[in-house]
Amino acid sequence: MEPAMITKIVDVKRNNVIIKDEDTINIIKEAGLILKSGGLVAFPTETVYGLGGDALNPRSSEKIYNAKGRPSDNPLIIHIASIEKLEQIVEEIPKKGKALANAFWPGPLTMIFHKSEIVPDETTGGLSTVAVRMPSHETAIALIEAAGGFIAAPSANLSGRPSPTVAKYVIEDMDGRIDMIIEGDAIEIGLESTIVDMTEDPPVILRPGFVTKEMLEAIIGKVKTDQTILEGTSTKAPKAPGMKYRHYAPKGEMSMIEGKTEQVITCINERAKKAKEEGKKVGVIATTENIMQYEADYIKCIGSKQNEEQIASQLYRILREFDDDGVDVILSECFSEEGMGYAIMNRLLKASGYRKIILK
Ligand code: TXA
Ligand code: MG
Repeated sequence: MEPAMITKIVDVKRNNVIIKDEDTINIIKEAGLILKSGGLVAFPTETVYGLGGDALNPRSSEKIYNAKGRPSDNPLIIHIASIEKLEQIVEEIPKKGKALANAFWPGPLTMIFHKSEIVPDETTGGLSTVAVRMPSHETAIALIEAAGGFIAAPSANLSGRPSPTVAKYVIEDMDGRIDMIIEGDAIEIGLESTIVDMTEDPPVILRPGFVTKEMLEAIIGKVKTDQTILEGTSTKAPKAPGMKYRHYAPKGEMSMIEGKTEQVITCINERAKKAKEEGKKVGVIATTENIMQYEADYIKCIGSKQNEEQIASQLYRILREFDDDGVDVILSECFSEEGMGYAIMNRLLKASGYRKIILK
């Protein structure tokens, strides 16, 4: 058997503050060299941890697919640190693309453009378009610059597992598979970037995120939403190839319960009791408002119903923790689909394999 790779694990934070001393500068330099020579480095961004490779090196993209166990028809996002770099990897930047870049970059927005010649097919999964994002996380920006300007990075999880929002889970999935893991401070947003296809007019949202339809429309007018986003049963293929896979899946069987609060609580408690009688371990995802009313083996607070940013930042960590706890059944309340709630429900429905129980 091939010996497992040694992964260097480095920390660039103390008490959640990124330090900018000599050591950190050297770490970023070393990581940049690893990327330039075709290696892989996991790093923090403001959305989720990324698994980076040189975006212009086809071998690096192949390595990313291998490390993740991801099908190679699922294209990668290229991360840049300055707008000048965008011109090199796309055919043209449409006016609306410029406007959105001005408004939301650096930040949790990914845009799709027609790709230029220098972007290898391996990075785009054979597509003639390319997804690009400029993250705002300081460590990510420093690393992109150290690597020469273009890092291809999917989320740093094994394919089919929830995206990592804490370093612990990057290490769990990637130790022994890549060259380096950079531990950062706690991730701010906790859900992957919003993806908008700028090759269509009006542009189309392929994956909802922190940047909502309303926020996009305030800048460029009408924006459409890919209809396959909230439906599990659609016969149409989603335009972002990655959206078709059963992503973000916890090991336990997860159900979403929708209805009036009292009914939802009763239904979750009944189902929890029944599963427990069958010898199963049960986890409940609860809001601060209702948490005291549940009975189950593991009850985890995802935040207040009123605070969707808090819910987003807790979501993937909670799904991972249920796996650690060995939970067999996960029951969750549904959340409002307003604002970022749309992205939250999109991820939860996917995690549950679209198992949604609607109480009349
Ligand atoms: O927040 C994020 O976007 C994180 C961090 C690390 O930046 N990255 C991330 O990458 O979520 P990943 O690979 O897990 O998800 C990329 C998604 C996939 O669903 C993929 O199919 C879609 O973007 N995608 C990439 N290039 C595309 C293209 N040219 N056309 C359509 N969809 C594309
Ligand atoms: Mg992912």
